[in-house]
Amino acid sequence: MSTSAAQTILPSTETMICAPLRDDFGTLISGVDAATASDETLKKVVDQFERTGAIVLRDQKMQPEDLKHFLRQFGELEGHTLQEYTLPGHPEIYILSNIVENGRPIGAHNDGVGWHTDYSYKEKPVKCTMLYAVEVPAEGSDTLLADCCAAYDALPTDRREKLEGLKLHHSYKFFMENREHGRMKLPPEIERANPDVVHPLIRTHPANGRKALWPSTGTVKEVIGMPGQEGLDMLDELIAFVTQDQFVYRHKWQVGDLVLWDNRCTLHTGTLFDDKKYRRLMHRMWAKGGVPY
Ligand code: SIN
Repeated sequence: MSTSAAQTILPSTETMICAPLRDDFGTLISGVDAATASDETLKKVVDQFERTGAIVLRDQKMQPEDLKHFLRQFGELEGHTLQEYTLPGHPEIYILSNIVENGRPIGAHNDGVGWHTDYSYKEKPVKCTMLYAVEVPAEGSDTLLADCCAAYDALPTDRREKLEGLKLHHSYKFFMENREHGRMKLPPEIERANPDVVHPLIRTHPANGRKALWPSTGTVKEVIGMPGQEGLDMLDELIAFVTQDQFVYRHKWQVGDLVLWDNRCTLHTGTLFDDKKYRRLMHRMWAKGGVPY
């Protein structure tokens, strides 16, 4: 395992220092102010993301327009299926929070608990998720990222051959009606706008060519060709495989953290915290992705 930091001196006055988050996965980037960084530095930041699956920048001070400008370096901004908790005036920014103001929750609470990949129920799932920490609990609420390429690489060859070509049926309706936190019957217009989709279980990263084992919980209704419980049991087994400690990075939040992960090669989950004792306020944004293959 390499843990050494590499320093890139840029011709401007900026210096970017990169260290792995764990093994060959992810990059902790220091020395970069995401709100004011030059185009040249931003290109290097995006390159780290494309190559290593996730990036973390600490001590950032980002206004909504800064968040949008930064994420546009990674792709076009994606909207949100449900609008209730978007930041007023900024529909691209979704609020995750347990805070209640004037008797009304200001954000979605425990929205991302359970291993998944974002927008898996869409024809084009999002490329990138970005979370910006505005207020965080003193303990709990870590976000876990699993490296699906490392998991694929660790599969025995005969298992890879058996899994190659399998496809998963994803359904937003199924997810919303069955999820543990916040079950919901979809209004007809939302159901129509989110028809079921089929995605491969093993997908190829378009930028670096690596293969990723890409199951998900929640939105998967069926493994095509393995109806009923047999397919879902296999999926559970694969999720347990991908999310073993050896493939997982655990992010412990500090205020000002900016964390981006690549949904094309990771699964992630939020974790619970003592929501009677602590407040959590995060801004979540997405950059658009392509059709998985
Ligand atoms: C998410 O799944 O989008 C959010 C995860 C978290 O809140 O830690």
